[in-house]
Amino acid sequence: METRDSISSRASVREYQGKAIEKKLLEALVDAGRRAPTARAVEPWEFVVVTEKPALVRLGEVATTGEFIKQASACIAVFCRETKYYLEDGCAATENILLAAADFGLGACWVAGDKKPYAERVGRLLGVPADCKLVSLISLGWPAGEVKQAKNRPLKDVLHWEKF
Ligand SMILES: Cc1cc2nc3c(=O)[nH]c(=O)nc-3n(C[C@H](O)[C@H](O)[C@H](O)COP(=O)(O)O)c2cc1C
Repeated sequence: METRDSISSRASVREYQGKAIEKKLLEALVDAGRRAPTARAVEPWEFVVVTEKPALVRLGEVATTGEFIKQASACIAVFCRETKYYLEDGCAATENILLAAADFGLGACWVAGDKKPYAERVGRLLGVPADCKLVSLISLGWPAGEVKQAKNRPLKDVLHWEKF
């Protein structure tokens, strides 16, 4: 798939078939994440890939806005060491992973990490060092049904040539 096709076909998917995702695909997703732009070339990220059912269920319980992680086949937790631009870097890595997932036909959803009261609990659950901040959880699985796209604001409403 062309990059632009991944961008335009991507949508948050929260219902999954329950079929396993090959390790190679999960590795490819993390590989996409680590290639994101990173301020001052710091690369503060660490990616924890969770595939075991009890851990996915626990994550879905703890991360209250991502309950559907319980039904996911995998979840990639994106952490960053607390550098000046850790949030921007971690978000760039998250989006790369979402686009790579769309490219493979995988369903994925970004679940908030940073700013959430459960962020530290997720870190402890996954054995992550205390100086790493949870940026996002990416819930993953083969889509259970039709992938429905959100209605985006029209281009003409958001594009401002030269001046707002
Ligand atoms: C920073 C961020 C945090 C998000 N957190 C959640 C979340 O906790 N739970 C959830 O179901 N979706 C979450 N989403 C997904 C958004 O709800 C979704 O992207 C939005 O509704 C637009 O739909 P689309 O992704 O299908 O285009 C998050 C997205 C972003 C960018």
